[in-house]
Amino acid sequence: MTQTLTLRRPDDWHLHLRDGDMMRAVLPHTATHFARAIIMPNLVPPVVTGADASAYRDRIMAALPAGSGFTPLMTLYLTEDTDAEDVAAAHASGLIHAVKLYPAGATTNSASGVANFNKVAHVFEKMAEIGLPLCTHGEVTDPSVDIFDREAAFIERVMDPIRRAHPDLRVIMEHITTSDAVDYVKSADKNLAATITTHHLVINRNHILAGGIKPHYYCLPVAKRESHRLALRAAATSGDARFFLGTDSAPHTDANKLLPCGCAGCFTAPNTMSILAEVFEQEGALDKLEAFTSLNGPAYYGLPANADTITLTREGPRYPAAIDTPDGPVTVFDPDMPLNWSVV
Ligand code: DOR
Ligand code: ZN
Repeated sequence: MTQTLTLRRPDDWHLHLRDGDMMRAVLPHTATHFARAIIMPNLVPPVVTGADASAYRDRIMAALPAGSGFTPLMTLYLTEDTDAEDVAAAHASGLIHAVKLYPAGATTNSASGVANFNKVAHVFEKMAEIGLPLCTHGEVTDPSVDIFDREAAFIERVMDPIRRAHPDLRVIMEHITTSDAVDYVKSADKNLAATITTHHLVINRNHILAGGIKPHYYCLPVAKRESHRLALRAAATSGDARFFLGTDSAPHTDANKLLPCGCAGCFTAPNTMSILAEVFEQEGALDKLEAFTSLNGPAYYGLPANADTITLTREGPRYPAAIDTPDGPVTVFDPDMPLNWSVV
């Protein structure tokens, strides 16, 4: 039986670091395992301009533990007023690696997102021209669409029309949760990839709702039925280069999760690698773990894979059940999940 696993150092292609005290508390948990991460721009106010992203990157760099080699890969939050020339300049300088599309009102801090997709067509055109990828939060916000159907509706109503209008636009459908999304990504011959979170490989909607409501399992897009989880596991463990890790690690204090109207997000940064090793071993696919965490993402983003490695050993993982922040504790995703792998 394999006792140690050595992988190219992984990257996280979708991460919420927040700002201020929360950022200082959560950042070391990503920086200790991951070399790079695509940093989500949904701060309050959001990271909209190149100047915003530059200032945010400086705050992240200042918060890194001494000696850390972690690199934040910045993104801009797309609004209906986004200036395509500012986007192009931020890309040309090497500052930003993607633009993030939030449909207005789809999730946490998305009020400034896009309601009318025609208003941002010129930005997509510019992005296609310069090879800057678009990351999407793929849920429609139409209140008449059932929340469990919002991803599938997004593909049909928004994603496919955008891709047909801009065939050269490189797209990453982020945190996909359905077999519909897996099938859609597989049907594309180019310019389409998807990230998959750790938690969507582990939970289905029963985990959230059966036997009492479990706010720590609530995130957006919400976990779907079991058949969808199985489709995600098959895609992630297949080695297919179009699927890679984006944890969507999204810290909220317990006080903000455990409310009558609690926040969406699972904080997976500390135990993601242990959980993924478990999932891939259960699927008989430990040999595909490196592709998912460390190779497919950089290849799609046009970056080199990391040169150094991390090692996991077969022993009970070492991570806290919750982390302390000045605003209160943040519970780690499923801290009691039985796991066999630990990052050395
Ligand atoms: O669960 C989520 N939390 N989904 C998102 O899209 C946003 C994120 C957050 O920022 O908390
Ligand atoms: Zn997210």
